[in-house]
Amino acid sequence: MGEVVNYNRENEIAYISVNSPPVNALSLPVRTGLQKAFQKFSADSEAKAAILICEGRTWIAGADITEFGKPPEDPWLPKIVEQMEDCEKIIVAAIHGTALGGGFETAMGCHYRCAVTTAMVGLPEVTLGLLAGATGTQRLPRLIGVKAALDAMVSGAPIPAKVAYEAGAIDELIEGDLREGATEYVKRLLSQGAKPIKVREIEIDTSDIGEHFFAEYRNGMAKRTRGYFAPEQIVKCVEAAVSLPYQEAVKKEGELFMECMMSSHSVAQRHLFFADRACGKVLDVPKETPLRPIKKVAVIGGGTMGGGIAMNFANVGIPVVLKEINEAALEKGLEIIRSNYNATVTKGRMSAEQMQDRLNIISGTIDYSGVGDCDLIVEAVFENMALKKEIFGELDKVAKAGAILASNTSTLDIDEIAKATNRPGDVIGWHFFAPANVMTLLEIVRGAGTSKDVIATSMAMAKKIKKIAVLVGVCFGFVGNRMFFPYVREAQQMILEGVSPERIDQVAFDWGMAMGPNAVSDLSGLDVLDKVKSEWEDRPEDPSLWAVGSKLVEIGRLGQKTKAGIFTYAGRTAVPDEAVAKVAKEEAVRLNVKQLENVSDEEIIERLMYSMINEGALILEEEIAMRSSDIDVVFVHGYGMPRYRGGPMRYGDTVGLAKVVEAMEKYRARYGDMYWTPAPLLARLAASGGSFSD
Ligand code: 3HC
Repeated sequence: MGEVVNYNRENEIAYISVNSPPVNALSLPVRTGLQKAFQKFSADSEAKAAILICEGRTWIAGADITEFGKPPEDPWLPKIVEQMEDCEKIIVAAIHGTALGGGFETAMGCHYRCAVTTAMVGLPEVTLGLLAGATGTQRLPRLIGVKAALDAMVSGAPIPAKVAYEAGAIDELIEGDLREGATEYVKRLLSQGAKPIKVREIEIDTSDIGEHFFAEYRNGMAKRTRGYFAPEQIVKCVEAAVSLPYQEAVKKEGELFMECMMSSHSVAQRHLFFADRACGKVLDVPKETPLRPIKKVAVIGGGTMGGGIAMNFANVGIPVVLKEINEAALEKGLEIIRSNYNATVTKGRMSAEQMQDRLNIISGTIDYSGVGDCDLIVEAVFENMALKKEIFGELDKVAKAGAILASNTSTLDIDEIAKATNRPGDVIGWHFFAPANVMTLLEIVRGAGTSKDVIATSMAMAKKIKKIAVLVGVCFGFVGNRMFFPYVREAQQMILEGVSPERIDQVAFDWGMAMGPNAVSDLSGLDVLDKVKSEWEDRPEDPSLWAVGSKLVEIGRLGQKTKAGIFTYAGRTAVPDEAVAKVAKEEAVRLNVKQLENVSDEEIIERLMYSMINEGALILEEEIAMRSSDIDVVFVHGYGMPRYRGGPMRYGDTVGLAKVVEAMEKYRARYGDMYWTPAPLLARLAASGGSFSD
């Protein structure tokens, strides 16, 4: 028996324990170990019952995701689950931490389940573009009902033990020590003469399933799951569960699971599972780097951004002081925060008491001396180098020794900002995305002189305030905006060439983007882009660059905030506007831009995506990003790219880099070298059949 699974018997109870750090995933050795342990249990005449329990921080957290995509190796999980269930002596799962995916399926193959109250169970396979393919889609509806099972599997959300207990997926809650509690529970079951309960033999309750149930369910989830492959597969599995004999439905589940596994969506979503975890690891900053204590934070600038940033810290119990230039501005800033919290309370997502607790630790100051005792100071003022340097000069005078001085710049040179201080080691960029209290992405910008402990502390703090932090280097726009610029450039160029903005946005939306590039530009503000253009020192020498946007700004169409930009707005709904088509036509004449006919959807996507991918390749070459997967994380968390595309770089890999380069050459022939020369890294990888993931 592999040592990752151990078998010990104490009197009549066998303890089968899994010990495979970090999360007891069901790797081949664990599956083999489980199989052997249960065979031993069946043959052990002294053992009357078995407890399946796990060592370490969690119960079995699922199949081993690193094995996916490789040839599967026997024993498969569904077989083990069935063998356990067929055992004639009772098996009890004793759960702590998280029993997820294949882990929860293993628990559902046990005859009874007990759990500590802090445990969670769930089937999150959908987040990996998969479904619970070890009979989970067949078992969960039998335990908690069809609707609840669908909700759990389509969302992938973990279910707290108490909720699972009330729903019927857990039979006993354990207070205190799990092993002791589980032992007591098993003794009780034995004394009552309890028999093995086989979940697969439980009849599914279909009493509340009407004739149109599945059609209505599909309608209900359509918006939430738009574009994703796995949710529909899950619904099909549950349909099979209620309409077919168990073995046939299991066969169907297996087929649908394999379709998911082979889909480009699952490959992309699995890539992101690891990408989300890899981006927190900084290659030259060791894990043991001592962190600076952060007990109090200051935010300089109480505008929408500053207020949102302050809320992040208050939300996790860290006192924040908001600095503004006068009482009126300060009061306005604090009011934005209050009204944001109020909106959350009104939606029922926070209690009035929680809101008060958070407001109690947010204070205001109009004087720099008010930030002197803060451990972290985040500047969040207007994007202007002179202003930022002035503020950092002030901070240098008042901040205590060792305080981290962070700038929420979205484009500017951190090294230049650091020069305004005598402590460049303490200066770093923290680029939040709007709305800062909602968006999960944080670009942490490392300057040439930023100390390693400042980087380590920033990455750790980001995690504490529940952000996904990606470490990037200094360049205009860092990773996200630098790649967003060519994306917007192509969108606007196509408008100049006669493609309607609504068509471009629709194609991008259908490809999976949360919003099209033109609607996003309107949301960010065309004036903001225009200002970026004017401050972009080495911008391409191209009079057509973002020309439509600049012209619209000139005539007062700044975007959503003026109810008119590339679109006009009825509330938040973008409505196409003939006036914009006219502006575009006039600009095209002025700039001598050739009009295109019959632009295909394929061309729209190629131009939007490949221009970004090429910029991403330059970014990698310049070592502005540490890994191509970090770039993917930026776009999925900060720019509304759907997880099933895996991010721009992963999308390039999916298409094939040779194909990307081939299309770029086509545009290069049409437009010249300026934008469409493949980056050396991209050209090299394409020529050698490589990929960014390599
Ligand atoms: N397989 C392989 N590695 C896994 C893993 C898994 N299922 N789950 C986590 N890991 C790895 C992580 O990559 C990470 O590795 P690293 O330290 O090298 O970066 C390490 O374990 C620790 O993971 P986290 O950083 O995520 O640790 P947390 O404590 O924050 O979270 C967790 C723990 C809640 C268990 C979280 O890791 C998680 O959600 N894991 C995935 C659960 C899941 O999706 N299970 C379903 C798998 S698919 C399946 O079971 C198919 C079946 O139906 C047939």
